[in-house]
Amino acid sequence: MIEIKHLSKTFQMKDGAVEALQDINLTIPDGMIYGIIGMSGAGKSTLVRCINLLERPTSGSVVIDGTAMETLSPADLRARRREITMIFQQFNLLMQRSCLKNVCFPMELAGVKKADAEKRARELMQTVGLPDKAEAYPAQLSGGQRQRVAIARALATNPKVLLCDEATSALDPDTTRSILSLIREINQKLGITVVVITHQMSVVEAICDRVAILDGGRVVEEGAVQEIFARPKTAAARRLVAPGGGKASRELASFAPDDHVIRLTFNGSSTSKPLVASLAAETGILVSVLSADTRDLNDQCFGSMMLRLPRDVAEARRAVDYIKVQPGVTVEEVTGL
Ligand SMILES: Nc1ncnc2c1ncn2[C@@H]1O[C@H](COP(=O)(O)OP(=O)(O)OP(=O)(O)O)[C@@H](O)[C@H]1O
Ligand SMILES: [Mg+2]
Repeated sequence: MIEIKHLSKTFQMKDGAVEALQDINLTIPDGMIYGIIGMSGAGKSTLVRCINLLERPTSGSVVIDGTAMETLSPADLRARRREITMIFQQFNLLMQRSCLKNVCFPMELAGVKKADAEKRARELMQTVGLPDKAEAYPAQLSGGQRQRVAIARALATNPKVLLCDEATSALDPDTTRSILSLIREINQKLGITVVVITHQMSVVEAICDRVAILDGGRVVEEGAVQEIFARPKTAAARRLVAPGGGKASRELASFAPDDHVIRLTFNGSSTSKPLVASLAAETGILVSVLSADTRDLNDQCFGSMMLRLPRDVAEARRAVDYIKVQPGVTVEEVTGL
């Protein structure tokens, strides 16, 4: 179990102090895939680097399986770090070494015999689906394959925890999916606790059990993924769940006479009844979808959508009246498009 207690990190700069993390308190149970999500600069990388003490917290504590990491001697800390490994957005492979030698590297540092290390590295290349790339060099691989090698390397020292800092941010959607399913497989088969750092809600939704939302160096929300999606309480959570949802908007009372654009926010409406289609089928009113950023989670729809309503005010109002009573949907008029 990872317990982060009253953790703060301040960077002292020439022109003042940057409070990157402020009083973070989180508990990450064993075997979980735990997401930490936030916008750029929220403090995600700093937090993950504090977990394995690559970065020293200014105050507070990181307790892993009962041991406060900041109290360890440098030698003990090095040994402990083999149990908490990390993968990165840019893979960080050694380009002059073959894939096999990359995977062997942490075992070399740990003093594992060369033959044993190579045997295990070959097994790990198999685990990550690249048995025939052992002799290849990283430059000869695709991004997704490089990340697989990085995952094999991270597994080499039998870690208990795998930290992933934007591990799929440099990959296309299909490759992202395949890497995420490999991470899920590793979590389930090997029982490794995974901490996923990301700015993408889609990543959290794909594999995380719980999520903490980081905003301006603070945890502003924490909970089961579905709960956060269904009832985002803070503006930061709403921005991530429904991008665009934070723009200026007016109440329906101030309906403009000839520009009826509305924003719908879906907080768990049923996906079995697509709204725009059922509006047309049940009322005969046709609307155009200006933008949509929705996603399905357990047969519920989350996200937001912009619709242009008919010019006729009465008809537009009828459309709004229809949408307003649908479960899990809120509606507001939008200005300034
Ligand atoms: N070594 C450092 N020295 C000074 N300031 C730093 C240092 N590392 C991070 N910061 C500052 O701490 C804040 C949080 O940075 P961090 O890299 O943790 O954000 P992030 O959430 O990972 O962002 P991104 O999504 O862009 O990777 C930022 O204001 C950043 O400028
Ligand atoms: Mg970062």
